[in-house]
Amino acid sequence: MKSQVIAEAEKLVKSKYLEERTGHDWYHMNRVRNMALFLCEKEQLGDCFLVELMALLHDMRDTKLIKDQADLDFLKDWLIAQGLTEADTYQLIQDIDSISYSKGKHSHLSIEAAIVQDADRLDAIGAIGIARAFTYGSSISQMMYLPENEANIINESSAIQHFYDKLLLLKDSMNTNAAKELAEERHQFMLTFLQQFMKEWNQ
Ligand code: ADP
Ligand code: NI
Repeated sequence: MKSQVIAEAEKLVKSKYLEERTGHDWYHMNRVRNMALFLCEKEQLGDCFLVELMALLHDMRDTKLIKDQADLDFLKDWLIAQGLTEADTYQLIQDIDSISYSKGKHSHLSIEAAIVQDADRLDAIGAIGIARAFTYGSSISQMMYLPENEANIINESSAIQHFYDKLLLLKDSMNTNAAKELAEERHQFMLTFLQQFMKEWNQ
């Protein structure tokens, strides 16, 4: 039953997100799934089936991507239809809602949610994280960079500002040791990128 549920989840997420254009495409979900599975096996923590399923579905209730209440509710019915118990379904939905950056700060995380949160955060940093920040930024018509004085005048953020607001903080918010280790190199790469960006900007 488990491999069947995973195969169905893959199909569902691919059909919904294959052509997504804000950095939350199917490939993001697949990278998060692969990384979450790696962390689960390396740390020998949590239920790897739930981790894999949660990783594939983790952005299916993100209000950045989903505006319609019926689409937000859809996942619960879908999980029940796959044969998951009410209790597992309830736990998965609660976990998915607890892993996002803004909501995740205060809530208690299950082991599985902590692993998926690490995998999601690793995908927001490093080379891929840089690419995703500019992709997301342009999808909301954000400038790539605004010098501070001009940002103050027009009261707007920028993709570069997002590194200071969030991306450079992620390294210290990892839950597992394996993710902390992987975050180090990705963090350094972002610092190098920012340094080079400012060097070229001012040349
Ligand atoms: P979360 O639920 O923690 O926000 P997501 O999987 O939705 O995680 O990923 C958010 C992605 O969108 C990250 O790659 C992040 O850099 C990008 N992003 C979110 N807000 C902004 C922003 N204001 N400017 C640029 N990128 C952003
Ligand atoms: Ni995500």
